[in-house]
Amino acid sequence: MKGKRILITGIAGFIGSNMAEYFLDENEIIGVDNLSSGRMENLRDLEGNKNFILHINDVKNNDELSKLMKGVDVVIHLSANPDVRVGYDDPIVDFRENTVATHSVLEAMRKNDVKEIIFSSSSTIYGIPTILPTPENYGPLKPVSHYGASKLAAEGFISSYSSMYGFTSSIFRFANVVGKRGTHGVIVDFINKLKKDGKVLEVLGDGTQSKSYVDVQDVISGIDLLHGKGDGIFNLGTAGRTTVMEIADLVIKKESPGARIKLMGGPGGGGWAGDVKVMSLDIKKAQSFGWKYRMESTDSVRNAIEELGDKR
Ligand SMILES: NC(=O)c1ccc[n+]([C@@H]2O[C@H](COP(=O)([O-])OP(=O)(O)OC[C@H]3O[C@@H](n4cnc5c(N)ncnc54)[C@H](O)[C@@H]3O)[C@@H](O)[C@H]2O)c1
Repeated sequence: MKGKRILITGIAGFIGSNMAEYFLDENEIIGVDNLSSGRMENLRDLEGNKNFILHINDVKNNDELSKLMKGVDVVIHLSANPDVRVGYDDPIVDFRENTVATHSVLEAMRKNDVKEIIFSSSSTIYGIPTILPTPENYGPLKPVSHYGASKLAAEGFISSYSSMYGFTSSIFRFANVVGKRGTHGVIVDFINKLKKDGKVLEVLGDGTQSKSYVDVQDVISGIDLLHGKGDGIFNLGTAGRTTVMEIADLVIKKESPGARIKLMGGPGGGGWAGDVKVMSLDIKKAQSFGWKYRMESTDSVRNAIEELGDKR
């Protein structure tokens, strides 16, 4: 993207801050964040740039959001409750922060005639798929977490708004995203736990959970290349999968050699209710448009451990 006015929701988060850095050179960026999980320090490198402005706002506040949409060319909608686990004890949070919030973004766009949206969806919309790697046309879609359900509902509204009001929409279904400034997920959890107690690492589930981890820069290059192309729905993942035990071993080796692993178990061997134990996405569709990942799953994990370890 070049020469656009881009509004990014969730800009102070992990993916948002990396995305803003990437697009800022050649575009004007309006950032919106309520700092529920995002941090100001993630935006340190952007401060003072004349093409960047930050608004501390909740995207569900439609009046305020609508004011910010004036003259915007593209919305990159990333704000969400990003933690699948939270929804079990607080079953409304995903609906509110992912579905209602997305509806608010779409309404603010409609009122201001903003015509392009890029959305961060998730592999969780596929539920527990019988086909691995899972392609975009897999069905029936039966999410097993409120998070997955709320993302699928958000995809539905994006589709209806696109059809009824002529928006261009691009829905990207991410595998687990890792890398610089990661805020949550298994690598961050393990590093934080070992900083508290360097002798024992508690691992949720039975350790055999096996998922695909994609580097945040590969996700961003995919979005830049693929938005507005094809039918507008793309998986963004990478080759290979990495088990939770492999990640535990790699984090221990870097952070606290000799620490013991304590398996905590969990529903069906997963880490929590709603965890999908095995996940990998078919990325052939994105590749057919010329996108290439730089790092496969375990290399992305290794790189993220290096990026995150010393800086937390
Ligand atoms: N990280 C992953 O592995 C992954 C995988 C699949 C999909 N996603 C999706 O990508 C997006 C970005 O995820 P992330 O990993 O950067 O998470 P993150 O928590 O680091 O970033 C989310 C940001 O949204 C902000 N936010 C939340 N609710 C808000 C609201 N109502 N109004 C304004 N700001 C709000 C938070 O403060 C935070 O800065 C999310 O939509 C997430 O569901 C992430």
